[in-house]
Amino acid sequence: MTRSFDGIGYDDFRRMASDESLSLHERIGFPDSYREGYEAAIFADIASKLSNLDGASKKILDIGPGCAGLPSLLIEHSVARGHELVLVDSAEMLAHLPDGERVIKVPGFFPNCEAALDEWKGKFDAILCYSVFHYVFVEAAFWRFLDYSIELLSDGGQMLIGDIPNVSKRKRFFASDAGIRFHQSFMNSNDVPEVNFRSVERDRIDDAAILAVIMRARAQGCDAYWLPQPATLPMANRREDILIVKP
Ligand SMILES: C[S@@+](CC[C@H](N)C(=O)[O-])C[C@H]1O[C@@H](n2cnc3c(N)ncnc32)[C@H](O)[C@@H]1O
Repeated sequence: MTRSFDGIGYDDFRRMASDESLSLHERIGFPDSYREGYEAAIFADIASKLSNLDGASKKILDIGPGCAGLPSLLIEHSVARGHELVLVDSAEMLAHLPDGERVIKVPGFFPNCEAALDEWKGKFDAILCYSVFHYVFVEAAFWRFLDYSIELLSDGGQMLIGDIPNVSKRKRFFASDAGIRFHQSFMNSNDVPEVNFRSVERDRIDDAAILAVIMRARAQGCDAYWLPQPATLPMANRREDILIVKP
């Protein structure tokens, strides 16, 4: 399969999931410092945007839950409310996640798992895809990912495509004084980050790609919004979210 975003893709994640030398955060591609101590705040932000996670007996889909703390929080949240929670990722990732009543693990590569998911067409109240879209963008049939997700939503259903690294936002930040200070403190040096507004950003998501997703969702009968992350989240200066709502 094609390698993606940071040089890793679905098959690399499968291997990393079973690598005992890695921490749970490293198995989903993050250094510990990017996630440790932040998961409750990340989950609170997700729940504030995906308000359908509230209530009782909802149908929820998590595309690419991985194996660190976030899916455990979602499982706990869903079991406590009697939601049906469907988790789609590789068997190797899913093996790390706790089981629970009405928690259904579907091993596979989304959206190439329609046979397993078609029974939920038009039924999901909430779909979460967090920190996954940049892999899908390169490796999967990107528009089919969006179109099939929309088909899976119920009326009133919500989809959060969260934690999208946006190269345009990154450039704006690192060209600013705040971005230069951030870089210098992170790198412990006086270097000024290199920013090229004319470079071809192969395989990277930019403002145009985000807008295109929003426009296509809107053209297919959904409302769609471009949302920031709270500044307290670890990558808020270069990542953002899309919320799609089927009226
Ligand atoms: C960076 S991790 C994010 C995990 C989790 N959502 C989180 O934020 O903690 C990316 C996850 O997406 C999964 N993934 C990547 N592409 C996928 C696809 N097309 N279908 C299902 N899972 C996918 C990987 O296996 C990995 O577990």
